[in-house]
Amino acid sequence: MALVTVARVEDIPEGEARRFEVDGHEIAVANLGEDGFRAVGDICSHAHAHLHEGEVDPDFETIECPRHGSVFDLETGKPRSLPATLPVPAYNVKVEGDEVKVEIT
Ligand code: FES
Repeated sequence: MALVTVARVEDIPEGEARRFEVDGHEIAVANLGEDGFRAVGDICSHAHAHLHEGEVDPDFETIECPRHGSVFDLETGKPRSLPATLPVPAYNVKVEGDEVKVEIT
């Protein structure tokens, strides 16, 4: 297990997600504002779209796949709507100072 710094807080605007690659993991990190940051696998489990290009909903803590619209839970990585049926990985995120860190297992 490793805690890896991927960005500074200001690199990820509130209500948006950015993509980072760590040790071969493609990760979408979303900024939910006062609810903090969440991280899930960036590649949609349905047909390989990039989730960081989709819409983040800070209220529901979800990100919507830009290709076919499946909505993924940013806490668990599970899809809340079709067509995706399989989860994407979910990662723990910690903010230390102004650094956003993702736990890679
Ligand atoms: S590629 Fe994401 S829902 Fe189809």
